Amino acid sequence: MSDLNNKQILIGISGGIAAYKTAELVRLLIKKGANVRVCMTKAAVKFITPLTLQALTGNPVATDLLDPEAEAAMGHIELARWADLIMIAPATADLIARIAGGHADDLLTTICLATEAPLHIAPAMNRVMWDNPATQENCKNLQQRNITLHGPANGEQACGETGAGRMLEALELAKIIEAEFASQAKPLAGKTVLITAGPTREAIDPVRFISNRSSGKMGYAIAKAAKELGANVTLISGPVALEAPEGVHRELVESAKEMHRETLKQAKSADIFIATAAVSDYSPANVANQKIKKTEDKFSLALNYNPDILFDVSHAFPDLFSVGFAAETEDLIKHAQGKLKRKKLDMIVANPVGKDQGFDQDTNQVEVIWQGGHISLPEKDKAELAVEIMSIVSQQFNDK
Ligand code: C5P
Repeated sequence: MSDLNNKQILIGISGGIAAYKTAELVRLLIKKGANVRVCMTKAAVKFITPLTLQALTGNPVATDLLDPEAEAAMGHIELARWADLIMIAPATADLIARIAGGHADDLLTTICLATEAPLHIAPAMNRVMWDNPATQENCKNLQQRNITLHGPANGEQACGETGAGRMLEALELAKIIEAEFASQAKPLAGKTVLITAGPTREAIDPVRFISNRSSGKMGYAIAKAAKELGANVTLISGPVALEAPEGVHRELVESAKEMHRETLKQAKSADIFIATAAVSDYSPANVANQKIKKTEDKFSLALNYNPDILFDVSHAFPDLFSVGFAAETEDLIKHAQGKLKRKKLDMIVANPVGKDQGFDQDTNQVEVIWQGGHISLPEKDKAELAVEIMSIVSQQFNDK
């Protein structure tokens, strides 16, 4: 599916000869599944008719700030709110100057002032007008306000001169818009997420082990959700009956000590660490080389405490964004907050466990807690929950 599918794009057109290329831009965006509306300045309608753009978009074209009919349906504030992204192509020197000055004397400039959507501008003008310090100052002003300029390109101009001032081609602008939505949809692009999942097995002898009820479902769902946000994902997994999600690199381990060793090794190159593994807290002090025989009525096993992987990783790599899971049978929030502090975490996901709750189930209910924030996610499928948890993780990580 295209990154433009169902995206709401407002195209602004000001009065330049390059306006004819904008019809093609609109056609390309619609072909990719976007909903497009067009707003034209008074000068723009002298270069290309609103009817052309209305026919292409299937929507009325907005031109007047004080149009009683338009205000009743899709007025300037609605249009400013409606847009997921605004692209003005072509943007003349005059329009750039008016946006730079914060004017709101026609519909397009008013929308620019009233919107919170990302604003993109494709300038087009004579090369001397482009080079003029007044235009350059205005462009700098726009960039300081996070308005993104694309082009202009060098080449032959409608006025017969050659130089910088040509609007970028429709296909280039369509690709820029698509890339903008793709990067919004992939907030973890270029980041590495390390995840531990599943139970560990602590050998007693060659045939017996200590383990727990973890199925690994939550960790695997988290790995899939992280991959979908564009991250490189490494999953360090204990023994589970699950396939690695597509595109996820998996290292299989058995014991807590193996998981500890592998995780510390991989943490060096990670940006986010999420510990979902249900690590066995203890392992037998001695592992018998041969199967232990039933010779006594009673059998006791000496156990040693296993390393706390999450604690060790978050303390060894203080810059790593570390997320823990806390499965609790009582005082959920209090215990989770204690772990958040003690294990030096950026976030903790707490879930109640008990009979038919948490372990080995397809659904889960969690509280996501971080310093200064708390979101309750009601019971739902682990896959859906993982998507919501990862969206919170990526937001907090990117805000940090
Ligand atoms: O202390 P507790 O076991 O409740 O902490 C749970 C969190 O710590 C989980 O994120 C779990 O993956 C992690 N953990 C760990 N190594 C251990 C024990 C727990 O990484 N030995």
